[in-house]
Amino acid sequence: MTDTTPPAVETTIAGLRSRLDAARAAGSTVALVPTMGSLHDGHLALVEHAREVADVVIVSVFVNPMQFGPAEDFDRYPRDLTADRDALAGHGVTAVFAPAVDEMYPSGPVQTRVSAGAVGGLYEGRSRAGHFDGVLTVVAKLLGIVQPHIAVFGEKDAQQVFLVQRMVRDLDIRTRIEVVETVRAHDGLALSSRNAYLDERHRRAARAIPQALEAAQSAADRGIDAIVAAAQGVLMGASEVELDYFAVVRPDTFQSVDDDHRGPARALIAARVGTTRLIDTELLHLG
Ligand code: PAF
Repeated sequence: MTDTTPPAVETTIAGLRSRLDAARAAGSTVALVPTMGSLHDGHLALVEHAREVADVVIVSVFVNPMQFGPAEDFDRYPRDLTADRDALAGHGVTAVFAPAVDEMYPSGPVQTRVSAGAVGGLYEGRSRAGHFDGVLTVVAKLLGIVQPHIAVFGEKDAQQVFLVQRMVRDLDIRTRIEVVETVRAHDGLALSSRNAYLDERHRRAARAIPQALEAAQSAADRGIDAIVAAAQGVLMGASEVELDYFAVVRPDTFQSVDDDHRGPARALIAARVGTTRLIDTELLHLG
């Protein structure tokens, strides 16, 4: 019978480490699913994957102040640990690691931080200065705390995934990064904790984002100009959607594709719908 008890919560690094030391001593492999909470089915897909590839699954729930700009939604970001634990019940999670900000940053802002480099300043990083340094620093800390064999991330945050994979390689961190496909709602919108900010009208308008990616996919065999025109055609008709960027990049470098690019390419989109900023992505194959 499936155990439907919500998973245990560890709020201290010491508590989590002693639990993990015991598991590792017993020969268990460990997977980490890093999250900021407000869990939805997209997160549960990451957890299901983690459970398939490791014996012990740790889900971290931490809204990381370092990755939010001063004018961003750190204060209003949804936080409900009870609901998160309930959502994880029956999913085979060993423990939730939910530290307070003081536990992760006991001396205030860290002196040593991970730099996301040039790619960290593109796309999301251009609109959200310092965001990826904050993401990489907290992910490096989480990997140091948990020392998982595997860490699982969602494809939707494609630039984050690229940068985490690069960090792990550059810093010789012994964790394998695995990526799980984006989960979409019935209307095509990628699941995101920030979808909760959308009222009904903006939710309807936000459908233009996955529709633009679908249009890009349909135009993929006609080259980059056709892809951009197809996506823009959809977005221009969406009055409530303010495009931040639409870009098509090489998956191996995250640089814009050349005009004559053939093969895999990743379409990236970020747009503001009302006051909510959403991102999405799709892997294309340029013929
Ligand atoms: O993708 C997220 O939820 C966050 O950026 C992460 C990876 C948990 C780091 O805070």
